[in-house]
Amino acid sequence: MRAVLLENLSKTYTGGNKAVDDISFSLEQGEVFGFLGPNGAGKTTTIKLLCGMLTPSNGCCRVFDLDPAQNPEKLHQLSGVITEHAQMYDHLSGLENLIFYGTLFGMNLSDCEKRATALLERLNLIDARQRKLSAYSTGMRQRLSLARAMIHSPKILFLDEPTSGLDPESAQNVNILIQELAARGTTIFLCTHQLRYAQEICTTYGLINKGSLLATGNIEELRTMVSSKVKVRLKASLIPDGMAYQKAGEHTYDITVGSEDEIPLIVKGIVGAGGDVYHVSAERMSLEEIYFSLIDMNNGKMEGGNL
Ligand SMILES: Nc1ncnc2c1ncn2[C@@H]1O[C@H](COP(=O)(O)OP(=O)(O)O)[C@@H](O)[C@H]1O
Ligand SMILES: [Mg+2]
Repeated sequence: MRAVLLENLSKTYTGGNKAVDDISFSLEQGEVFGFLGPNGAGKTTTIKLLCGMLTPSNGCCRVFDLDPAQNPEKLHQLSGVITEHAQMYDHLSGLENLIFYGTLFGMNLSDCEKRATALLERLNLIDARQRKLSAYSTGMRQRLSLARAMIHSPKILFLDEPTSGLDPESAQNVNILIQELAARGTTIFLCTHQLRYAQEICTTYGLINKGSLLATGNIEELRTMVSSKVKVRLKASLIPDGMAYQKAGEHTYDITVGSEDEIPLIVKGIVGAGGDVYHVSAERMSLEEIYFSLIDMNNGKMEGGNL
């Protein structure tokens, strides 16, 4: 089932700032979508459009076939969201905040308490459950807002930088939780700057820069947009004459090949020339490298276009 659809989605803020510019893509249910892009790219605006907090200037979007601007209540039953500003009450405790939101979503009190307690436990907030939110640290608020977004077991979660402001241990904890939700079939729409972690959990990506969508697809598809080449790192006693390489250390060489099929030929070449091979690894471009290549390519194109 299709979870998210954007069709020529555009948003121009008052004053003429085109934050989202004609974006189209769709996501299937169960996907973990990493929405990546530099500050000001238009990620938060897109999330706000998908959650009905903003209305499109042009084009449309759907979440489980609902128009967020037309059906906000129905959509909120199905979705959870965390944006930069978690809307919660300072004068209520952590537990009371969760119960308030759970009952708002139509949960009965006992289900709500059970689920809230499990989430507080899971997010290391159980000891602070009776403390007023005003006494929570930034990291604690951040984790509570994640619990709030998940209280009614939504089918889709929109997470806007859920780990910003968290210490590495809490960030890890939140990331593992996202992974667990995804494994249970929750669709995740995740804006993050943690590219290494995104690479571990996301099934598909969208790359946005200055309001425009540069690329969508899984990591293999993104890689081929940048380069299909593979870097092979070898530790060997010698490199035969005529084999192109870059020295990466003592007896360590990097050789760039068109595909993995060429690796056995390299090893045979070394052995044939009387050498020994101690280590071979094929290094594909990481998400981080792909990200910077695509952003650089796009910035270059835009600058070139202005000349
Ligand atoms: N309420 C607003 N009014 C005017 N411009 C805005 C508003 N919110 C965001 N913008 C602008 O829209 C662009 C995209 O912002 P945003 O969606 O927050 O990007 P991101 O989340 O990727 O950092 C930026 O240029 C930002 O300054
Ligand atoms: Mg943002």
